Amino acid sequence: MAIRPILVYPNDVLTSPTLPVTQVDESLRQLVQDMIETMHAEPGVGLAANQIGDSRRVAVVDLSAGEDPEKLKVFLNPRIVFEKGKQSGEEGCLSFPDISEIITRPSLVRLEALDLDLNAIEEEAEGFYARALCHEVDHLDGIVFLKRMSPLKRGLVQRRIQRMLRQEEWPEAVLPEGCEE
Ligand code: NI
Repeated sequence: MAIRPILVYPNDVLTSPTLPVTQVDESLRQLVQDMIETMHAEPGVGLAANQIGDSRRVAVVDLSAGEDPEKLKVFLNPRIVFEKGKQSGEEGCLSFPDISEIITRPSLVRLEALDLDLNAIEEEAEGFYARALCHEVDHLDGIVFLKRMSPLKRGLVQRRIQRMLRQEEWPEAVLPEGCEE
């Protein structure tokens, strides 16, 4: 088990769709453990496998950021099958250090996925939980939250990142405390 570096935009892995999981083997269990540890180390409330460089369609979400084991969710092959309403709120992403913006998301979603025993599971979520699920499923589709910003905001954020890249102030990866790299 290990805490892994979190890749930072514009790494190609973040903008490439992930591939469905077809079997739960030791390597997948290891991936899930590493994702949970990495998310908790940051701490974050969600993490997609491609954020640590793995192209399998796996996400972990924990709105309690490690405080409540019952809040920890592991989703294999998650997809949003229903959405309703709209909400606007502040959103950040571990792959965009220190950037947060107002993003509009559905206010209610239904997500279908598989659990680690490959049983079908369904989650209905509202509010911030709905936002978190949309954010992680987007990641797995190769969509970063920059794409969900208004064109004006997106331009501003992109220019800010470009400027920090030129000044070498923008990292290639975030190394959470305890990360072995
Ligand atoms: Ni993110």
